[in-house]
Amino acid sequence: MRRGVAQLGRALGSGPRGRRFKSGRPDHELLFKGEAKTDQKRIPLFEGLLSFLKEKRLPMHIPGHKGGSGAPLTLKEFLGENVFRLDLTEIAPLDHLLTPRGIIKEALDLATQAFGTDQTFFVVNGTTGCILAMIFSSVTEGDEIIISRASHRSAIGGLILSGAFPRYLPSKFSWECGFSFPNNLEEVKAALERYPKAKAIFLTSPNYYGVTQDSYSIVKICHEHGLPVLVDEAHGAHFIFHESFPPSALKAKADLVAQSAHKTLSSLTQSSLLHYNKGIIDLHRLQSALLILQTTSPSYLLTVSLDASRWQMVNYGREIWQKAIDLAEYARAELNRIEGLKCLGEEDISKVGDFYLDPMKLTINFKESGISGREAEKMLRKEGVEVELSDPWNVLCLVSTGDTWESIDRLVQAMRRVKQTNGKAPKELRDLEGSTLPGIPEQVLTPREAFQAPHRLIPLKDAVGKISSEIVAPYPPGIPVLCPGEKIEEEVVSYLWKIIRIGLVIHGLEGEGEEKWIRIVA
Ligand SMILES: Cc1ncc(COP(=O)(O)O)c(C=O)c1O
Repeated sequence: MRRGVAQLGRALGSGPRGRRFKSGRPDHELLFKGEAKTDQKRIPLFEGLLSFLKEKRLPMHIPGHKGGSGAPLTLKEFLGENVFRLDLTEIAPLDHLLTPRGIIKEALDLATQAFGTDQTFFVVNGTTGCILAMIFSSVTEGDEIIISRASHRSAIGGLILSGAFPRYLPSKFSWECGFSFPNNLEEVKAALERYPKAKAIFLTSPNYYGVTQDSYSIVKICHEHGLPVLVDEAHGAHFIFHESFPPSALKAKADLVAQSAHKTLSSLTQSSLLHYNKGIIDLHRLQSALLILQTTSPSYLLTVSLDASRWQMVNYGREIWQKAIDLAEYARAELNRIEGLKCLGEEDISKVGDFYLDPMKLTINFKESGISGREAEKMLRKEGVEVELSDPWNVLCLVSTGDTWESIDRLVQAMRRVKQTNGKAPKELRDLEGSTLPGIPEQVLTPREAFQAPHRLIPLKDAVGKISSEIVAPYPPGIPVLCPGEKIEEEVVSYLWKIIRIGLVIHGLEGEGEEKWIRIVA
């Protein structure tokens, strides 16, 4: 990684060293001839922008900061001038993200080749944008779609946009690990039999904690049923770059795969990849959805970071991931030496089923330590460590290509200071452990109908029998107990009261303490 960043920095500084890129020529016209198609050593989008900058054209166009001249000084001093210089807009020579024919097309061709897909798209509003486009383009009003209940909230957004009717796949929650698992082959097979009219299936793998389902057999059986497979692989953009990582849905030829390159690769926040494999999904509809859902002013900083990230991964990925894997293994071993802590490994995951674990995710379980994951997060904050997330049982840390022996040692030292060993899980966890999660409620309206209907806020105590207009998700399990358009059953309300009394978090309810309100279809 260090090498990659250094090269980018040097090239951005222009001058003769910038010429290390084959196309470091001042004449940008030469860049638009598709030369880059298979040359993974190139970063065509970056090269094209640098060539353009070298021409020092008079910018009588947006953005208003005009290469940084009009930028707030404090920000410019901190960010440096080059950030503003590269923050160009889509003027003709610089191509268009949504209808690419020049340097963006060349960058996309290289990404398509690198990820082994039929077409890869750069998306500038995250995997949220990818998921909206995936669902919006593959199902339409009234179509049934099989969808993992533990999906990211953008999947519900996709249902609202498309008007589709969800057939939720229940998610298995492990009290042992403290999180839900991706849906497996048996669950998918059962859903295919139960919902023969379904037009698509949407799955999430890996989950936030890096637990991954092998998509091969799932994709195979869904394709035998003529069903396109849409996969939220937000946390798995690195999978294809090292053999120690879990298998990617890309290798299984899932029809559409969304990856947050910004989460596990090194591109800038918000930049994601949407991968298309031909067969069932209409490419034109997918492109139209991306046109509808994305800004007409995509940031070149984001797209260039995707192009450079692809270049870094293809040319140096194996080497830099090997180093990161070594660090993660060292961290796992050291954390497991701390009494009372357990850093989850494949042996823990395999007790739940046949799953893979991304070694870069460190799920540190505090169950035996006498403090909750949430408390541990706060204590780590006092030690100067910010974690990815915490839940009642765990804190989750991400190791990436940006880590060093020093950063890992710092984490381990902080964790040593944080852990406590009175060997008794906190009361709220003991109260919750083993609870039966409510079943999936009756779908009375589609999420779109529920979204479009008038809404009203009522006390939770009066909610039984009404229709939810929101996603309501208690943590744990982090899986929604209500989604838009579902009937609010007694079972769900009782579970919510239990969570409220224990004092755990519920997303989607309003109000303080036990004064809780819920938004319903009026
Ligand atoms: C499983 C999953 N899918 C999708 C997303 C959305 O990704 P992005 O932040 O790139 O929009 C997230 C974000 O955390 C996620 O965890």
